[in-house]
Amino acid sequence: MEKITVTVLARMKAEGQKITALTAYDFPFARMVDESGVDIILVGDSLGMVVQGEASTLPVTMEQMIYHTRIVARGVKRAMVVGDMPFMSYQASVSQAVENAGRFLKEAGAAAVKLEGGVSVARTIEAIAAAGIPVQAHIGLTPQSVHQMGGYKVQRQEDKLLDDAKKVQDAGAFSVVLEGIPFAIAKKITASLAIPTIGIGAGADCDGQILVLHDLLGLNEGHVPKFAKRYAQLAQTARAALGQFVGEVREKAFPTKEHSFK
Ligand code: KIV
Repeated sequence: MEKITVTVLARMKAEGQKITALTAYDFPFARMVDESGVDIILVGDSLGMVVQGEASTLPVTMEQMIYHTRIVARGVKRAMVVGDMPFMSYQASVSQAVENAGRFLKEAGAAAVKLEGGVSVARTIEAIAAAGIPVQAHIGLTPQSVHQMGGYKVQRQEDKLLDDAKKVQDAGAFSVVLEGIPFAIAKKITASLAIPTIGIGAGADCDGQILVLHDLLGLNEGHVPKFAKRYAQLAQTARAALGQFVGEVREKAFPTKEHSFK
């Protein structure tokens, strides 16, 4: 089993092999996702919305991210675990960003961190990478800037996106997530970079693809974005099982002798 590292991901891009990525937030799902053969497991701050029930990712804290990253890392043997830097853990100063990035590796067992932004965070990426911490950038629709963007909107400024992509690569990012970008622009960015692009709502021509686990499994019963394909309906399955338990206890059909001690 080859452990996924920045070197492996660079080789996959060079050889035209698609990179697969998913989010995970806890031990049992991290283990299942890792066993599926996924290359990157992102402990995304999307947990604010799909696990905590918040309206955005903004309330998520460093302590929560460290906790979730640690329990995910415990379940992973092969994939690269990336810790997502939450809102205001890297924006206030470069030194605060380096310190917080270091916590993901030192306290939580991540192998890399992700942060949102292009040109505006290039200096921060450079400093974190200089500390020996691999950084994944994230450009296009960046959910932590939801108020600045005026909502979760597809980003279409081609020149700015190309510039952001180039600047994060030059700053030392090992990969970049392209979110909510027209597929033709994502294709151009992917062709112009040496580092792998990982798309979400960015079409089929990125070097890899990421989805939020709860969208893919049908565990998220809230708004599911157009780009998220549901591969299962686990919320329906869970509801049916829970309803059956309640019914069987009320009807005295559970527990039976089979589930009891002599
Ligand atoms: O937080 C997250 O899950 C993400 C992915 C959607 C890329 O940033």
